Amino acid sequence: MEQDRDRDRGEAAFSDDNVGVLLEALPYIREFHGKTVVIKYGGAAMRDEGLREAFAADVVLLKYVGMNPVVVHGGGPEITEYMNRMGMEVRFHHGLRVSDADTVEVSKMVLLGKVNADLVSRLNRAGQPAVGLSGEDGSLFEVGPVANAEQVGFVGEIERVDVDVLNHIAEDYIPVIASSASDRAGNSYNVNADEAAGKVAAALGAFKTVFLTDIVGWLDDPDDESTRISETTVAEVEAALPSISGGMRPKLGACVDAIRGGAQNAHIIDGRRPHSLLLELFTVAGIGTKVNP
Ligand SMILES: Nc1ncnc2c1ncn2[C@@H]1O[C@H](COP(=O)(O)OP(=O)(O)O)[C@@H](O)[C@H]1O
Ligand SMILES: [Mg+2]
Repeated sequence: MEQDRDRDRGEAAFSDDNVGVLLEALPYIREFHGKTVVIKYGGAAMRDEGLREAFAADVVLLKYVGMNPVVVHGGGPEITEYMNRMGMEVRFHHGLRVSDADTVEVSKMVLLGKVNADLVSRLNRAGQPAVGLSGEDGSLFEVGPVANAEQVGFVGEIERVDVDVLNHIAEDYIPVIASSASDRAGNSYNVNADEAAGKVAAALGAFKTVFLTDIVGWLDDPDDESTRISETTVAEVEAALPSISGGMRPKLGACVDAIRGGAQNAHIIDGRRPHSLLLELFTVAGIGTKVNP
């Protein structure tokens, strides 16, 4: 074993600083034991090979220390890339992908066949078996069309999450959920992955809901990354929501859904930073925005 050889040579695997990090994490590890954490995966952490590996290692570590991680993902950039390759027109309306039947079909193929399969295989290789599922599996999500379906087409809103299937799988595996679903009539829909993560967290009464994104957190001034709001309350988020624009809006809306639905905290963190998940959960300072009830 590599580690044993190092030990024989008397090489210190950890410096005193590293030991400090472990000691800092210990009370959190104790507090989080047996608790469910829902993680919305996306952005840079999904596009960069090194970040993908670091993310898988973090999720596996959470499982090893006794937490119950549940991953929810979208696949926006990959879907756009494949649509471009197939010569399909890509359009958005207020942050939602305008989705005709062909768009939904391609989205589903990319989400399940590529993004989901890749993450499941990575988690398996990192040492914890994972199971991939979409909203259809075990009737996980029941969806209906969003209110502005005339503008966006087959974009679905989650009306109900059936947690039975998740609880069964999470006993032994890490569930990895792709944000697609069908309605009762069998029509397929795209679902915003932030919304899906918020609804899943609420249904599970998650201890933590963590959203990985490509910015340091919720910013007081959207153009100034030094204005990160480190900690806030769900009431403050609700009050600010009407004035929030872009992709941060569904994300903050999902934080509200999660907490109002019974999850304890929501966190928005910088997925561009390797191991951001561990830094947020297991260090005193944290690195992103923490939303409290
Ligand atoms: N007040 C704000 N704080 C932070 N980001 C904001 C804010 N207002 C708008 N945004 C935008 O929201 C984006 C995050 O959402 P999005 O692009 O959908 O990322 P993701 O892939 O994580 O869903 C940020 O990159 C930023 O451009
Ligand atoms: Mg988004």
